Amino acid sequence: MASTSTNPSAAQAARQANTSTHLGALPSSVYTLPQTAQLEALYTIIRDKETSRGDFLFYSDRIIRLLVEEGLNHLPVVNRTIETPTGATYDGVGFEGKICGVSILRAGEAMEAGLREVCRSVRIGKILIQRDEETALPKLFYSKFPPDIAKRYVLLLDPMLATGGSAMKAVEVLMEHGVPEERIIFINLISAPEGLKTFCGKYPNVRVITGWVDQGLNEKAFIIPGLGDFGERRYCT
Ligand code: URA
Repeated sequence: MASTSTNPSAAQAARQANTSTHLGALPSSVYTLPQTAQLEALYTIIRDKETSRGDFLFYSDRIIRLLVEEGLNHLPVVNRTIETPTGATYDGVGFEGKICGVSILRAGEAMEAGLREVCRSVRIGKILIQRDEETALPKLFYSKFPPDIAKRYVLLLDPMLATGGSAMKAVEVLMEHGVPEERIIFINLISAPEGLKTFCGKYPNVRVITGWVDQGLNEKAFIIPGLGDFGERRYCT
């Protein structure tokens, strides 16, 4: 029979594993979700190869929602005074600028609904990056952004940070469109330490919000233990 303890030692070990990796401490621009037992349970479900597509959708959506909320915590705010229905004034805050989402196709599209749930009528751009057959380097195939993207904070969406190649290309394209590095927040469910090191080395001012930092990459650039191919799990292809 399974133990009914809340198993604080497992959660504690996970927490430790997610502040340092075999490549050293996490870069200071990386923020993980609070490594709670609940979060670990959600990840256990989506990592399990026996999990049904319906459950994969449901539980990955729950994690995506947490990640988007955490991403929004990183947006700057300005003072805002309002009047409440009691006639009192309240000195609060409001978001400083406008945001948009940019999903890296096609897996990143799975994160759009989670963003829309918390940011009503948010503008969403898309970017398609694939490996160039000749050079083996990530190549831009398609992009469509809101026309005023240079004035917005960008939540860049891609569920898996493996080598970091696509994400770095996406940041390069966003910066070519006038988005400053420090206005980009990259949100993903699982990161490989190798990808984090490369990505954060190149773009130290992009904040990375990740749910979990895994052990590493295998020879096929899959994250280990990971969850397999996110697109396949999500779309059953
Ligand atoms: N993309 C995935 O879907 N899974 C991985 O493990 C790595 C990249």
